[in-house]
Parts: sequence; structure tokens; C-alpha cells
Amino acid sequence: MYYLADTANIEEIKKLSHYFPLQGITTNPTILAAEGKKLSVILPELVKLVGDKMLHVQMISEKAERMVDEAKKYREICGEKCDFYAKIPITEEGFRAIPMLKKAGIKVTATAIFTHQQALVAARAGANFVAPYVNRLDNISSHGIEVVNHIVKSFTDFKLPTKVLAASFKTVDQVHRVTLTGCYSATISYEILERLRSHPMTDASVDAFQKDGKKLYDIPF
Ligand code: E4P
Repeated sequence: MYYLADTANIEEIKKLSHYFPLQGITTNPTILAAEGKKLSVILPELVKLVGDKMLHVQMISEKAERMVDEAKKYREICGEKCDFYAKIPITEEGFRAIPMLKKAGIKVTATAIFTHQQALVAARAGANFVAPYVNRLDNISSHGIEVVNHIVKSFTDFKLPTKVLAASFKTVDQVHRVTLTGCYSATISYEILERLRSHPMTDASVDAFQKDGKKLYDIPF
């Protein structure tokens, strides 16, 4: 499973890019609002950090034609190097926008997905990725992992090229269980990425190795 960072915080992305094998960054208007910067300021900053990896930027327009104009503009700002995806919330207009964007040569991530059928329809419309919201489903007494599982199974059964980008995580266990569905990728906050890559037993083991090895390791290098 590929990991993406679900954040627009420049410091968090800088820290992660030192050691975490990230495949890209995802944002949405709420994530951007947390940074308190206008899109015209933060988008070029994100482009610089993401390099040639994926950058998923959400559209705010409500009409399909405007979503296409918006995506064209953002892709232009992002440039050729960055792997740009227009995140499209799957409203009626969003579904209409997907084939229009594909025709314009813009890759699409269908977002705000809460059911298996929404994901299948988005895939049929031509979305490159679908983003089901695991934690938001769990929080309404539904089952985020089960929804992802059904989506992954159907994409495999029907040989659909659309990939799953599982989103909305609040615990490491949700990430663990979504990984077991075989989903292609997950976008995860800085805090949860840090929690899943670290373990206090690792730190304790490394401390002991350091203590025991210090006086023995005498080969210069
Ligand atoms: C990413 O594409 C989604 O917008 C995001 O993961 C939603 O996360 P939240 O439910 O924590 O807001």
C-alpha cells in the first residue's frame, strides 16, 4: 500500500519527506483552512515540496464546467513535473465533471465517497482514484473498512483500472485494517503516520544496542 500525507502543513511535510517513503500529498478545503493561508500562497509551496510525486487538490466549484476551468488553472500552477490530480466531490455535477476532466487530459480523484456504489459509479465515469472516508463512516455507526473492502473487491472482480485512495483516518488500527483489504493507497495525517511508523519497543531496543555496542565497535569507517 502506498502512503500519502493528508496535510498542507509545510513543516509536517518537510519533516516527513526526510524519512517517510511518501507517494504524495492530499489536501481539501478544511485541511487548507487549518493552515490559514490563501491557496495562491500555499499551492506553490506544496508544489515545491511534492516534487514529481502525486498532488491531489480539491475543487471548490459547484458546476462541472467551472470544476474543469479550476482544475486546468491549478494544473498550470503545479506545472509538468508534479503528478496532479483534481479532487472532485461526487455530487451530481462532480460525476458530470469526471469525463469532462478526463477528456481535457486531467487525472481525477473522486472524493467524499461513503458507499461502495458511489465508488463504482465514479470508476465507471473514469476516475483514476476513489477516496472513501473511513473514519467519517465509522463515526456514523457504519463500517469504513467494510466499504473499502467491497470497493477493492469489485474493482478487482470487474477489472477496473481505478485505484482506491482510502482517506479519513483517526487511528492506526483503521490504517492497519484498511491495509489488509489490499487497497492501493491511503492518505493519512502527520500524527497517524508518525504513530504507525514508530514504536516504544523499537526505541528501547535501539537504546540497548547502543549501550552494548559502544565499547565493542572499534572498526574505523
Ligand atoms: C482526503 O482526501 C480527505 O479529504 C480527508 O482524508 C478527510 O479526512 P477527515 O475525515 O479527517 O476530515
